[in-house]
Amino acid sequence: MTDDPANAVDAFYSRYAALYDRVATDAPFAAGLREALAAAVGLERGDVVVELGCGTGANFPVLRERVGREGAVVGVDVSSGVLRRARDRVDREGWENVHVVRGDATEPPFAPAELPRAAGPAGEVDVVVGTFVTGMFAEPAGVVDDWCSIVGEGGRIGLLDLARSTDTGGRALNLVFRVLVRAGAPPGTKTRHGSPVRVLDERVRDAHAQIHERCACAATSRRLAGFARITTGRVAGESAGDRL
Ligand SMILES: C[S@@+](CC[C@H](N)C(=O)[O-])C[C@H]1O[C@@H](n2cnc3c(N)ncnc32)[C@H](O)[C@@H]1O
Repeated sequence: MTDDPANAVDAFYSRYAALYDRVATDAPFAAGLREALAAAVGLERGDVVVELGCGTGANFPVLRERVGREGAVVGVDVSSGVLRRARDRVDREGWENVHVVRGDATEPPFAPAELPRAAGPAGEVDVVVGTFVTGMFAEPAGVVDDWCSIVGEGGRIGLLDLARSTDTGGRALNLVFRVLVRAGAPPGTKTRHGSPVRVLDERVRDAHAQIHERCACAATSRRLAGFARITTGRVAGESAGDRL
């Protein structure tokens, strides 16, 4: 094992893959949020969607339902343990257009050539999504910028993340949220620079802000008393900031 953050993430999620799978698929709030992201990013039949940090594949049913048999879903994750579960899920369901790839989402290129040919006739990607993952990246804005480049101009990107609430009702529960984040903090969120919850807040803020920077018509909505943030956009040809 080296100091590579991806190795630490792999070890953490592989060890807790079974537990994480239960939480990811059974948590009462999760299904609605996953549906909301898929709707907000405008997934349509025939789309090729790449999910970065796909974990055990909890989003696959929603993504596949939307893209239909004509489209394709490609899940990418760095952790072998969760990927095994994701592959089991695909095999169990008999989904021929859902593919699972091992890779580090912070180290593109995820050039079309690296994705299975089945992802699209020319390997093109229409949509990139990431759920509950940007808080794990040391440089989230740069990572999201690279993800925008995967789909290119006109492609769509969507993020779903949890962070502390700024809603009046939600703020009262921030202390509970902080305890939960600290208890379940994976490697990379326990840094020297601050508490895990502050690191999470900052990373999620930066990741979502980057969509507004790179995309036209970017929009952020909040759910779950303000704890859940969904941001989507269509990648612009130039920096949206430059065009203002
Ligand atoms: C909190 S889980 C979310 C999984 C899934 N997106 C979901 O909604 O259930 C975070 C996932 O991101 C993966 N991950 C973290 N850093 C990664 C990286 N650099 N490259 C690829 N996957 C990564 C972890 O292995 C883990 O499966």
